[in-house]
Amino acid sequence: MSNAPLHPVVGELLYEGKAKQVYATEDADWVVMRFKDDATAFNGLKKASISDKGPINAKISAHLLGLVAAAGVPTAFARTLSPRDQLFRRVEIVPVEVVVRNVVAGSFAKKLGRPEGEWLARPVVEHFYKSDALNDPPINEDAAIVLGWAAAWELACMRERALRVNEVLLAFWAERNIDLVDFKLEFGRADGAILLADEITPDGSRLWERGTGRHLDKDVFRRDLGDLGDTYRELHTIVFGTAYRAE
Ligand code: TMP
Repeated sequence: MSNAPLHPVVGELLYEGKAKQVYATEDADWVVMRFKDDATAFNGLKKASISDKGPINAKISAHLLGLVAAAGVPTAFARTLSPRDQLFRRVEIVPVEVVVRNVVAGSFAKKLGRPEGEWLARPVVEHFYKSDALNDPPINEDAAIVLGWAAAWELACMRERALRVNEVLLAFWAERNIDLVDFKLEFGRADGAILLADEITPDGSRLWERGTGRHLDKDVFRRDLGDLGDTYRELHTIVFGTAYRAE
């Protein structure tokens, strides 16, 4: 594997996701992730462009991935290049999304008939098959292994790391008077190892203000609870201690 390029040149668009684009660089081992302002929900059925969302998410993700890496979880993130662009190791994404839940909410509440807001006695790890065509259906580890999406050791590694990430993020948000209700992670393979890939942002997390239960995450958009741009700018202030200013 080559060292991260010092001045990566943004090349061909390799992949366009709902909230990010992935570009090749001159080095096949490294890619540039570009954070868009787009917000989508319900597998793209609901869409909007939210000004400042891309750079705020990029900045929060870089910060949280840095904390997680410092806590011993290897990540694909290398460094920030510009407000929207970040350098990442190129990985092969494992098509198994890992969700960690501390509090009952969202699809877990719905499918199990439990009210949102109940703290779980310990974190619950869930798996979803990463497939837009199938709407990311829930799966278990056996299905992932037998259908060839991930090896047993990879799932064990992903689970352990997701729980470590949960410890780090729970403490981080708790210090800011916020409960980390749940979040989704994606992992990738590079040189035979598993790395935490993708982002950690309020798009893929549920963050509830303590005491009020106010949503400080993408549920504001999914559930029409207010202005997502205002929510993300507020989160910027909470995380960095200063109001967001476009660079
Ligand atoms: P869920 O309760 O809808 O299953 O969501 C669990 C967590 O995963 C929540 O923090 C939001 C995040 N998530 C994504 O990042 N992408 C998705 O497509 C969905 C449905 C949820």
